[in-house]
Amino acid sequence: MRCSWSFLGRFLTVLTAALLGVVLAAGCASQEAEDMSAEAPAAEGAAIVEYLGSADFQNTWQHLPGVEPLYTGQDPHGALLSTYFNAIALKAIEDKAGSIPAGGMVVKENFMPDGTLAATTVMYKPAGFENADANGWFFLKYGPDGVIEAEGKVQGCTECHGDVQDNDFLFSVDVK
Ligand code: HEC
Repeated sequence: MRCSWSFLGRFLTVLTAALLGVVLAAGCASQEAEDMSAEAPAAEGAAIVEYLGSADFQNTWQHLPGVEPLYTGQDPHGALLSTYFNAIALKAIEDKAGSIPAGGMVVKENFMPDGTLAATTVMYKPAGFENADANGWFFLKYGPDGVIEAEGKVQGCTECHGDVQDNDFLFSVDVK
């Protein structure tokens, strides 16, 4: 009798562990799927603004090594700038990969001389987005209130950044 109770006990322990394992695995899988979709907003201004609003990029993304978080900017981007690179962009720059691959994103906050945020400008390479004039970049500019001022294949952005097209349209870093 004692023997069969202990067998039942062991059986239940194993069953519980197995069930727990299934529940945990399912939980992790859905978490992963969520993280991956959060990593890649669509090629659309509103989706990118929303993504950046929840990405906490000011605290979790990197500045360039050796560059102050807030530095004196060049025209036309404002008096003080802060530039952030997501992991995909930063890796390509560190590896001197030649260009930024799909998923790469660079975000620049443009401040007025008194330190108020004037606008946020973004360059993003959405997977599958075609922009032959700017090597796949999607440009975006939005105000502190989140209102979009320009997005997509923006001619003004493309023309000026075209001065550095050999460097994948990036001014402030060498990607080669
Ligand atoms: C008249 C030229 C000019 C125009 C127009 C322009 N930019 Fe820039 N942009 C620059 C320069 C110069 C820098 C480097 C500034 C610095 O880091 O000091 C820069 C930097 C950036 C960066 C950081 C990555 C990099 O290249 O260093 C982003 C992102 C950016 N611009 C987005 C935009 C967007 C979006 C637009 C259009 C709404 C735009 N820019 C229009 C000249 C321009």
